[in-house]
Amino acid sequence: MEILVTGGAGYIGSHTCLELMENGYDVVVVDDLRNSDLEALRRVEALSGKALAFYNFDVCDQDRLDKVFGAHAINSVIHFAGLKAVGESVGMPLAYYANNLGSTLALAGCMKRHHVRNFIFSSSATVYAQDNRMPLAEGDALGCTNPYGWTKLMCEQILRDLCVAEPVFSVVLLRYFNPIGAHPSGRIGEDPAGIPNNLLPYITQTALGRHARLTVHGNDYDTPDGTGVRDYIHVVDLARGHLKALEYAKRNRGCEAINLGTGRGYSVLEILRAFETVNQVKVPYTIGPRRPGDLAAVYADPQKAGELLGWQAELGIEDMCRDAWNWQRNNPRGYRT
Ligand code: NAD
Ligand code: WQD
Repeated sequence: MEILVTGGAGYIGSHTCLELMENGYDVVVVDDLRNSDLEALRRVEALSGKALAFYNFDVCDQDRLDKVFGAHAINSVIHFAGLKAVGESVGMPLAYYANNLGSTLALAGCMKRHHVRNFIFSSSATVYAQDNRMPLAEGDALGCTNPYGWTKLMCEQILRDLCVAEPVFSVVLLRYFNPIGAHPSGRIGEDPAGIPNNLLPYITQTALGRHARLTVHGNDYDTPDGTGVRDYIHVVDLARGHLKALEYAKRNRGCEAINLGTGRGYSVLEILRAFETVNQVKVPYTIGPRRPGDLAAVYADPQKAGELLGWQAELGIEDMCRDAWNWQRNNPRGYRT
């Protein structure tokens, strides 16, 4: 059974491809490598001992997508391809809307033409409105503050409407919280271009000595130690969640939004301490001002994933910190090492 994985060379996509291949699925990847490296897929093949089919083109290209659907017996689609930097999206909204909506529309149209019904979509906790109480449950108010977030919310709406019009479709909107960590082999992991915005890659690069220190964005939040609290989830747990979502989509029709988080929040200082302790390395830091747009605390209610998918996160913060460092240490320049 072939699964089409768009954006399969990226951070979450590569881990999911590996999990799929290790569980007997045949994988077809479409990725134009705009934010990734083919080396990730070579390593996925080496780790799994299996080959995958790879196509290098833009998922917005319907004609080329049609040919891929014609050439493979695709049963389900996992759509990771997209632009994902919140700050960048504010400066280039049109590129974000064109790519994230365009790729989703192209794929959904192609699936309809080729009678492929199961669609797993990469959504984000960023679709929740800012004034919700924690933990965030799927029925909570939605709303965004930046173009990236809106692209995710708009894609959710497009796919919900599709399921109303075409009741044979089965769509799972997976709302990820904060994916971190890497495969325990240290062979695949997060490889951000340029200076990272996200906490964990900044920590691992600082531990390597590439940055003098981490700036903690604010310590005057209404949280136990004043620093921001997030629901960090191991990327391998997240990848496994996609396999559970695939199984669910095959058994059910309609559209479901489901959180993938642990339900437990950690502060920036807790992460720093855990990282230093488990890896026995020092990460110098300084306290800076709050980062505009940040919330004090964001964490999931993961109950629905447990009930519908039979999934819950199994790996803890020590695993996440150890595996993130194992990847970075072994690949100081990412896939270009
Ligand atoms: P990533 O950038 O590592 O992977 C995305 C992949 O898609 C890259 O390989 C990129 O080259 C490819 N791509 C982008 N646009 C494309 C296009 N039009 N055609 C073909 N390939 C294209 O990102 P990631 O962290 O693996 O995220 C995967 C998905 O999960 C994204 O949709 C992202 O918005 C979503 N998400 C990520 C996070 C996170 O913190 N990493 C959190 C919530 C949601
Ligand atoms: C985590 C915590 C920062 C960097 C973002 C997107 C979200 C989702 C995941 C895609 C916060 C603090 C960070 C640093 C710090 N992506 N921090 N110093 O902002 O929760 O979520 O990525 O869907 O949409 O917004 O993640 O890793 O940037 O920050 O103190 O150098 O670490 O203030 O409290 P965030 P993050």
